[in-house]
Amino acid sequence: MIYKEIGNSGIECSVIALGAWAIGGGPFWGKTDDNESIRTINTALEAGINLIDTAPGYGFGKSEEIIGQAIKGKRDKVVISTKCGLWWKDGRGTPKFELEGNKVNICLRPETIKIEVEDSLRLLDTDYIDILHTHWQAVEPDKTPISETMNCLMELKKEGKIRAIAASNVTLEDVREYMKAGTLDAVQQKYSMLDRKLEDELLPYCRENQIGVLVYSPLEQALLTGRFKKDTKLPADVYRNNIPWFKQGNRERVLDVLDSWEDLTEKYSCSLTRLVIAWTIAQTGITVALCGARHPDQILENAGAAELALDKADISRIRQDITSLGDPVQ
Ligand SMILES: NC(=O)c1ccc[n+]([C@@H]2O[C@H](COP(=O)([O-])OP(=O)(O)OC[C@H]3O[C@@H](n4cnc5c(N)ncnc54)[C@H](OP(=O)(O)O)[C@@H]3O)[C@@H](O)[C@H]2O)c1
Repeated sequence: MIYKEIGNSGIECSVIALGAWAIGGGPFWGKTDDNESIRTINTALEAGINLIDTAPGYGFGKSEEIIGQAIKGKRDKVVISTKCGLWWKDGRGTPKFELEGNKVNICLRPETIKIEVEDSLRLLDTDYIDILHTHWQAVEPDKTPISETMNCLMELKKEGKIRAIAASNVTLEDVREYMKAGTLDAVQQKYSMLDRKLEDELLPYCRENQIGVLVYSPLEQALLTGRFKKDTKLPADVYRNNIPWFKQGNRERVLDVLDSWEDLTEKYSCSLTRLVIAWTIAQTGITVALCGARHPDQILENAGAAELALDKADISRIRQDITSLGDPVQ
């Protein structure tokens, strides 16, 4: 495994992390087996992964609770990344979505963040969080100014309840606001070889300002593992149906490009999954790839990508091939 510092936080993280969204189960992900989830977390740690990313919203506390159980007695070996700002306990905030009977609002008021952090500490069974992200950024009508949110996060850091401050799903303007009010250690953004918007302005800004960049959905929810074939029918309700690249027509084009890399998987004696993750973490400015998994074999497969050093020419070829796809048809 390879480890990198998150910004200037002093926290060293594995470049491949375990994303624990699916571990929370729920309507996007269907049934999860909690014992299998615990085995997945332990397998990740044994493979050298030390960063686990979760959020209170993943299974409405379930993901954090499972992590707390799995890491009992090993707290010092784990970097826990969780989030705040999706709030369903009362009507404070701005409506975002409704799920399993919960009306979920975006709320980044200091008083709700403090409650969320206490809840996360209890569920994770720990007395500190390594990296706390604001999950989604506040919007009108209940838009807490970023400076107020940041003051609260800095207070939590001073109290030792969190070690690093991060923000997710941000614009460059948001990041500038956070930086005006304090030090942002990391951002967490969507990024995969099929979706490289992050490269336009945020990635260069973060590099210049020593802000760590954690990227989510690098496997495009397993489309880039080649597991979903051209004719695989997705059940009607799964989240994957909302991703344009999964749609018939678009999916075939992606799979044809993946097939054309057979010589590369042979050259590196690796799976497609490892090739894709290795390419992702080789991109300048990317600190960590957050790979979701809820089965031990998946996380072992993903962790192995850290050992793969791709030649520059192959990295460029992959970029060229994937760029030739253009945008998905909506
Ligand atoms: N900040 C945010 O707003 C945000 C948003 C999304 C995600 N995230 C974070 O990023 C993490 C990863 O993102 P993601 O879950 O959206 O996408 P992802 O990592 O692209 O895909 C994860 C899914 O791919 C499948 N998979 C994983 N490894 C595999 C392997 N080796 N072979 C075959 N299939 C494999 C699994 O699906 P099955 O479980 O169906 O087998 C897994 O749940 C999340 O867990 C979460 O921590 C953050």
